[in-house]
Amino acid sequence: MIKQREQWGSKLGFILAAAGSAVGLGNIWKFPYLVGENGGAAFIILYLICVLLVGLPAVMAEILIGRTTQKNPVGCFRELSKKNPFWMGVGLLGIITGFIILSYYNVIAGWSLGYIIESVKGSFHNMENPEIAGELFFQNSTNFKWVLPLHAGFMFFTIAIIYSGVNKGIEKASKFLMPALLLFIFILVVRGITLDGAQKGIDYLLKADFSSVTAKTVSLALGQAFFSLSLGMGALLTYGSYMSKKDNIITSSVSIVALDTLIAIFAGFMIFPALFALQMQPDQGPALIFNILPVMFNSIPGGYFFRILFFILLSVAALTSTISLLEVITAYVVDEFKIPRKKATILLGVIVFLIGIPNALSFGVMQDFTIFGKTFFNLFDYIASNIFLPLGGLCITIFVGWFWKKQDVVDNITEGSKGISPIIINIWFYLVKFIVPVLIFLIFLTSLGIITI
Ligand code: TRP
Repeated sequence: MIKQREQWGSKLGFILAAAGSAVGLGNIWKFPYLVGENGGAAFIILYLICVLLVGLPAVMAEILIGRTTQKNPVGCFRELSKKNPFWMGVGLLGIITGFIILSYYNVIAGWSLGYIIESVKGSFHNMENPEIAGELFFQNSTNFKWVLPLHAGFMFFTIAIIYSGVNKGIEKASKFLMPALLLFIFILVVRGITLDGAQKGIDYLLKADFSSVTAKTVSLALGQAFFSLSLGMGALLTYGSYMSKKDNIITSSVSIVALDTLIAIFAGFMIFPALFALQMQPDQGPALIFNILPVMFNSIPGGYFFRILFFILLSVAALTSTISLLEVITAYVVDEFKIPRKKATILLGVIVFLIGIPNALSFGVMQDFTIFGKTFFNLFDYIASNIFLPLGGLCITIFVGWFWKKQDVVDNITEGSKGISPIIINIWFYLVKFIVPVLIFLIFLTSLGIITI
């Protein structure tokens, strides 16, 4: 018996699930340190422009492909391109990228789980400065007995949700986890901005210093928008494939993009006022979350509690993203190879866990094992974020703008979007046809070092 393909139970369920995919380590870990290193509000403004000009149109394009065909990335392109191998290859590239990203993303997600435990244990008590926290972080991240069980544990949670399916798994989890995430972030923002001396951090986030903006900054902002919105590998396409034709792609996309962007900015307001209040430096890069924040909470009233809350927040944000990554590859295997969902989920979860082992060990026993001068972890991140995602995004938007009949594109996006003016749809279409691919292409060349400005 062929089971009917599942659909989201409600429009809200879809929005929360897709926003859950978007909101992740990218928002809470990466966005704040990029802001800190690249001129505060100036970076935020650039980021907002990238989101509006490239991110939102690309989100709509991906969801549209998925909803129109109701298939996994490879199936979508098979149907729309009439079995053209190049376009099916684009779908397959998305699946491969899914394996790669999940295999290293899950490692960091595991760390955040580990930091909930460290926080509960009170490991950061009496730590006066970030160096000592850095020491603990070094000990943990280089110790395979710490990283591997956490990598396995986080994969277990991810598998458990995907195992239960689209409605009972992803949708139900998102409906519970996303409101919780919003509540936690709200509590932490209020805590941050009400500290004595927080004003300096708020000023830093609101005052734009364009003197430090270069072409590299623009490329960072666009790359971040892409990663943060889960674009370029068919994640939104897969979630879109469970969407009903009655639902509005345009307003849903606006809600998803708005939620993702707001949460990134909130993460800034959660971290910077507190950093400045405690006279710590904003431009600490990736170490910000694991070395500086845990110590920062020591000087905050109620810090023990807020620190635990922060790492729960980070883990929840990561979990709603890892499930979207596992869902993409699961949908592919279930559709294309007719393997039952439950079996496919466990099989794929275990495979990704195994691929992830060298990534998990990249900070410790395998740190000297390098390919092209990069550890496994850095290589996987580089290939996915700098090559495969932009390439996938480029191909997906070029397909919608140039290879799909315009009338079909317009008819499909209009379905379920009654009341949206044709002018808006046209603006979107021409953005996808011209502006988005050109910008992605330029950034692609910049990030590969082919253009240096
Ligand atoms: N958007 C997530 C974040 O910001 C990460 C993520 C989940 C992702 N699914 C993706 C990135 C698909 C690229 C493609 O953390």
